[in-house]
Amino acid sequence: MADASAERRVVDLRSDTVTRPTPQMYERIASAPLGDDGLDGDPTAIELESAAAHILGKEAALYVPSARMANLLAILTQAERQELVLAEAASHIYVTERGAATLTGTFYEGIAGVDGAMDMDALKEALGPGRNKLRTGVVCMETSHNNAGGAVLPLAHMQAVFEASKGAGAAVHLDGARLMNAAVALGVPAAHITACTDTVSLCLSKGLSAPMGAVLAGSAETVQRARWFRKLLGGSQRQVGIAAAAGWVAITSMVERLADDHAGARRLAQEIGRIQGLAANDPQTNIVQVDVTLTGLSAVQWESRLRELGVLVRPWGKHRLRCVTHRHVGEREIDVALEAFRSVAAACVAS
Ligand SMILES: Cc1ncc(COP(=O)(O)O)c(C=O)c1O
Repeated sequence: MADASAERRVVDLRSDTVTRPTPQMYERIASAPLGDDGLDGDPTAIELESAAAHILGKEAALYVPSARMANLLAILTQAERQELVLAEAASHIYVTERGAATLTGTFYEGIAGVDGAMDMDALKEALGPGRNKLRTGVVCMETSHNNAGGAVLPLAHMQAVFEASKGAGAAVHLDGARLMNAAVALGVPAAHITACTDTVSLCLSKGLSAPMGAVLAGSAETVQRARWFRKLLGGSQRQVGIAAAAGWVAITSMVERLADDHAGARRLAQEIGRIQGLAANDPQTNIVQVDVTLTGLSAVQWESRLRELGVLVRPWGKHRLRCVTHRHVGEREIDVALEAFRSVAAACVAS
């Protein structure tokens, strides 16, 4: 009990992945019909997969343990060995997941971008023919974009990427780990965004609050192949409905409230921007990036001083912090965080 109350006092802005399941999720887990997903199917996983396919505007979907595995399966199913995977240079797939090349036999090329959007000339150049060039198997986009402070890709940009990729015979995958944040920010259904993609991954355990899991959606044929690769990777699980039940609640009832996270992020960023020595992005979704350069402290030093005051953030480069709003960050938590930022900044000015 002592631990639980200590935990409650801490304001955890490190990531939206820290969100815990909702009471409705626990109820659904308790009553979920279960089967064997590695044998002849689990009814609750099937229910989640068909709801996800519908919401994402695709023929089929597959429940997988993590967003990384969903992205990996998108590449395994759509790129041959020795083909290129093109992704925006600051994207999660390129920066954090390209070690997957050791499994896929593909080559990853980063395309320079601004706010997560690839430079179209650079993309076309990479896709174009060339004597010594490899063929491109998959082009990957990301929205909202983690490293770009939760920026949302404009739909016209996504359409242009889709057309250029299709013109070169490449598949298009969307890393939509935070797709629902993008959908809420744009005020459109998720299927509207995914219309210009072949496959899309959606993480259930970030702002949507499920304890684990992600889905990969696409054509029935691609998802069938993904199911085979999932088994090969050891990602097929047995009574997986225990987890899928929470995922179903995540996609059917946790999307609209993301608007609260976005409003919280905007307030946090605006107020931080008023503190001497600090600058923040203008967040479109739930990720605030704080530049601490002018305070004379490094991001690591800021992280440890804020931690002493009960506020957890993540260093994101030498002079930048990342703060992510989520279901456990309400007005009170934002006030606590702002007080901590003001107090550390005031100590910098005084010293
Ligand atoms: C954009 C994006 N894609 C994929 C992932 C991978 O998610 P996971 O580690 O839950 O598999 C993350 C994680 O933060 C992410 O931000």
